[in-house]
Amino acid sequence: MTGVTGNGRLAGKVALVTGAAQGTGAGIAERFVEEGAKVVLGDILVDKGEALAAKLGPSARFVRLDVSNEADWEAAVLAAREAFGDVSILINNAAVLVMASIENTPLADYERAVRINQIGPFLGIRTVAPIMKAAGGGSIVNIGSTDGVFPGDQGLIAYAATKWALRGMTKVAAVELGRYGIRVNVVNPDAGNPMIGRPFLPPEVSDADLIKLGDAMAYRILKRLHPERKRIDEVVAMVLLLASDEGSGCTGGDYAVDGGYSAGTVGLADFLSLSD
Ligand SMILES: NC(=O)c1ccc[n+]([C@@H]2O[C@H](COP(=O)([O-])OP(=O)(O)OC[C@H]3O[C@@H](n4cnc5c(N)ncnc54)[C@H](O)[C@@H]3O)[C@@H](O)[C@H]2O)c1
Repeated sequence: MTGVTGNGRLAGKVALVTGAAQGTGAGIAERFVEEGAKVVLGDILVDKGEALAAKLGPSARFVRLDVSNEADWEAAVLAAREAFGDVSILINNAAVLVMASIENTPLADYERAVRINQIGPFLGIRTVAPIMKAAGGGSIVNIGSTDGVFPGDQGLIAYAATKWALRGMTKVAAVELGRYGIRVNVVNPDAGNPMIGRPFLPPEVSDADLIKLGDAMAYRILKRLHPERKRIDEVVAMVLLLASDEGSGCTGGDYAVDGGYSAGTVGLADFLSLSD
């Protein structure tokens, strides 16, 4: 973390990043601070979020933000205004995974996914829209998933439905808010925090195996030229482009960061030779 201010690709911007205490959201917050933004980290994980904000320094603040709660959104944009000024970038990143077959998905789990993954971004867009309108523009980036692009796996009825909804919401919001200079895009990764699936897998699958499996799947099409590359960094790079003024021509778009996964499949033999 360089603590750059006054220059960088996001100099002068105030960003609100949801689900920023860990994983992809933490990566986005850290990179945004490096690029000169003031960043408000929102999450329900208070200790982790506060520790990360403290580590990132004076350009970062943590607010407790449950994205499914209307009052929390109002409080978060007020906290941002008091600390840094009006929000000019919103990253709707917070989400929960639900993995279960259709018959084994309780209504409560389905509704929880909808409240956090779908209603959360809606409330975020609705809350920042008047602020960005008054400022003459802004950028909203929603974090989707390949699971919202094609049915790549089983057991994802609730999660995938919310991510499909997010892509639709992105396009509707882009059309409605474009005249105010507000851009709305969605990034669809195939990866993030490898531990997101942990609660749904048997204990005999180790954390290390989980990471190895995720990596092998991510590079089943694209040749892995840089083994040291972190996949979250690749998602962050796309989010940064869309959030910054360099993305000024982009709105209503779907951006895959999935190593080609959504483009098609390779045969098993190819997959095995790519993954060694
Ligand atoms: N991990 C993957 O393999 C993967 C793949 C594709 C897309 N994604 C997407 O990437 C984004 C980030 O996920 P991640 O991989 O970093 O997982 P993660 O679980 O580490 O991060 C999600 C964050 O959202 C927070 N959160 C959960 N409920 C919340 C709520 N009600 N209000 C506010 N914050 C809440 C969590 O505390 C956590 O910090 C999500 O939108 C996810 O759907 C992840």
